[in-house]
Amino acid sequence: ALPEKFAVPLPVPPVKRPVRSTAGEDHYEITQRVSEVEIVPGYRTAIFGYDGSFPGPTIVSRSGRTTIVTHRNELPVPTVVHLHGGHTPAEHDGYPVDLVYPVDDHARRVRHGGAMAGDSGQGSRTYEYPLDQPAATLWYHDHRMDFTAPQVWRGLAGFHLVHDDVGDRLDLPHSERDIPLLICDRAFAEDGSLLYPSIDPNLRDTPGVHHDHMEGVLGDVVLVNGAPWPTLEVDAARYRLRLLNASNARRYRLALRPAPRGGGGFVQIASDAGLLPAPLPHDRLDIAPAERFEVVVDFARYPVGTEVVLTNELGAGPTSEVMRFVVSRRAADDSVLPRRLTEIEPLRPGAAAPRREWVFSRGDVGGGRGWTINGRPFDPERMDARPRLGRAEVWRLYSDLHHPVHIHLSPFQVLRRNGRPPGPFDTGWKDTVDLRPAEYVDVAVRFERYRGTYLLHCHNLEHEDMAMMSAFETR
Ligand code: C2O
Ligand code: CU
Repeated sequence: ALPEKFAVPLPVPPVKRPVRSTAGEDHYEITQRVSEVEIVPGYRTAIFGYDGSFPGPTIVSRSGRTTIVTHRNELPVPTVVHLHGGHTPAEHDGYPVDLVYPVDDHARRVRHGGAMAGDSGQGSRTYEYPLDQPAATLWYHDHRMDFTAPQVWRGLAGFHLVHDDVGDRLDLPHSERDIPLLICDRAFAEDGSLLYPSIDPNLRDTPGVHHDHMEGVLGDVVLVNGAPWPTLEVDAARYRLRLLNASNARRYRLALRPAPRGGGGFVQIASDAGLLPAPLPHDRLDIAPAERFEVVVDFARYPVGTEVVLTNELGAGPTSEVMRFVVSRRAADDSVLPRRLTEIEPLRPGAAAPRREWVFSRGDVGGGRGWTINGRPFDPERMDARPRLGRAEVWRLYSDLHHPVHIHLSPFQVLRRNGRPPGPFDTGWKDTVDLRPAEYVDVAVRFERYRGTYLLHCHNLEHEDMAMMSAFETR
């Protein structure tokens, strides 16, 4: 039986404290470990958690201060940490074979050590994030080659928020009225354990999922911050909601039921990589895996006592609802919704700008069916482009089916969809763009500052694990 809806309060992941700070750096320590948590009321569920929790603790950084995170791997499997949306030097970006081996797994390291590329870690690894980038809602998650999907499914994901002076000067809703919402679907067995169709349940050697799941694994329980269909009591005031779709494969069309009178219930203020130039009202929001939308919702537009359900118009049955807000009391509100938010430099690559094409399609992977980019599956030696730093390029992304495409290192701007103007959810700096079936999308991208090898890939995590990744080298 599925858990009851709206029966548990919304948890908010704790903000992690640095173990020490110096003039320009903050140091953190996170332990990745198995733990038992209560997700479905009355049941214990074993997860893989950063600090044993799901979502992991939220890291809050200041733009321009270096954040240094040491991850200790006490899990039974190798891991890789990627800061999604981070402007990160390549050696700290979490290349899928830059493995952090389990603390107690010496033998395995020796066996595979010679064959693995990159700078691997035994037991722990320290990642450095300069975060020379604008305020944004980033997230960190596992990125182990061939095993990202089951490891994120088991819980390896958390928020990493970046603040800066531009954002702080805006007087947007803050503190208890600034809430990150990590939305994902999961499936549970009768005993409360997480259900995932891995070929190798121990996630040791054989990657992949059973064949009928190659389109992507879906669950029938919607979790927000790790709780099934939770409830949040809110003041009749403006809230800033940082929406992240951390699902492996599910896309959502979010809406508020009832919608506030006059519509425009979601006022978008930021996309993946930071603030928009100006607030953008929406009645509904399409959000694909890995995308972030920051919205302001003004609950003062509802009478006190109203129950407002966050719905998913792409879902059916249990997955057609996400969580519930209860407008519980009148309250003072000193926040404002400014008419202008930030300046965004439009990227308009000229006729001489380099152009590249990337085709995302089903294809042959090692003799079986899988997912390819430009007809080829990922391998760690693959290198498909050598863009120059500081120079804008136009990348045309073609797709056979739905693929949420993510480019590492630097954000991009959507120029056109099928030759037409971008859609309502394409505004601002993006790092993930949802390609729809039989579509091509032109994006302008300009890589900055760091030389090295980076990924682009589909963020449907089953597609990613079944080889829909490619690499480029900035120079
Ligand atoms: Cu969110 Cu390469 O990943
Ligand atoms: Cu895909």
